[in-house]
Amino acid sequence: MKKKVLSFLLAATMVMGLATGCGSSSSTSEGSDSSDDAATTEAAAADDASDSSDDAAASSSADGELQVGIVLPTKDEPRWLQDQAKFEEILGDAGFTNQVLFSQGSSSTEKTNVETLISKGIKVLIICPHDDAAAAAAVQEARDAGVKVISYDRLITGTDAVDYYVTFDSKAVGAAQGQYLIDNAPEGSDIPLYLFAGAATDNNAFIFFEGAWSVLQPKIADGTFKIANSDEAEALKDKAELSREEIGKIIGQITTDWDFNVAKSKAEANLTAVGADMKGDVLVLAPNDGTARSIADVFASDKDVSSYVVTGQDSEKASVQYIIDGKQSMTVFKDTRTLAADSVAMAVDILDGKEPATDSTYDNGNIEVPAKQTDINVVTKDNVKEVLIDSGYYEASEFTGLE
Ligand code: BGC
Repeated sequence: MKKKVLSFLLAATMVMGLATGCGSSSSTSEGSDSSDDAATTEAAAADDASDSSDDAAASSSADGELQVGIVLPTKDEPRWLQDQAKFEEILGDAGFTNQVLFSQGSSSTEKTNVETLISKGIKVLIICPHDDAAAAAAVQEARDAGVKVISYDRLITGTDAVDYYVTFDSKAVGAAQGQYLIDNAPEGSDIPLYLFAGAATDNNAFIFFEGAWSVLQPKIADGTFKIANSDEAEALKDKAELSREEIGKIIGQITTDWDFNVAKSKAEANLTAVGADMKGDVLVLAPNDGTARSIADVFASDKDVSSYVVTGQDSEKASVQYIIDGKQSMTVFKDTRTLAADSVAMAVDILDGKEPATDSTYDNGNIEVPAKQTDINVVTKDNVKEVLIDSGYYEASEFTGLE
């Protein structure tokens, strides 16, 4: 963990150092306060994004131009509020004019957000798409306007108008979730396994599932686990590697659309559909924290489910509390400090006319996008304090029952 904190500090220091040295620091402001609205409004409507962008005009640089524009998919999931907070902190400290806009689950709002930022003069766009394929049109506009595009966390697909990709190791996220289920499974065979996935419009959902399948499949094939809720997955249980199309078929049955309510109704429908043999002590692959909490609540309230092991990811505060309370088994910590710092370091290089450092490439169906990838950590009740509190990510006072 120490290593991670150190690398974050190094990245932040590097950003600040470069900012002082580069020409772009002349147009500093306090950083946009535009998204303060966004941060404080829990369930904002889509047009809040444009409201907040109006405020931004007042806080841009002296020549009225923003340097870096950030577009995030929704403020209704705490995950993206974590990213927003880190961006504002790092970009503000580095003296860059910036603005964060939210697309509120709409590709058309996302496109408008991109156009708004282009019209404000951004040189670099950092964008996490709502729908990876639909975002191609928006980033093409950025490309046409001479703006460099960094795809953030989710890969924009089917276009060559993406310059860089900054991401966590998403395959490792899925593999860690699958491995946790294996390591914490009850003894025996035919242990019921419920599979859930993210949205089919999100490339990450495929990668997470691929990672989970890579470790779970042998246990399904040898009869240790029995899939409870996907006959598509059941039909493919002997295949160690699945094609994108095959994963797509499975996701078609088990998707949550990254939506808490969809996750809840799907879990309820699954438990209603199965017989007693698929209850008792069960395993649940939940793709992220928001859906994990919804699914966990459903499993907890079923009197025929005696125990459940449920995964998650993002280390959202509410899920950290669930883990402390024993209601969610694990989460994957994706340190948004590192991801935001890596993207900002890239933006700084771009503004400085330098080629940003990358360590891998990702095929987006059109080009190989140069990428920078970040590791992940598993968080359980046993290490929550060490990983999330001692590293300064959260304050102990934000939780109850923490030892
Ligand atoms: C992100 C996850 C997030 C999910 C839902 C994925 O693309 O990688 O961290 O939980 O989207 O927003």
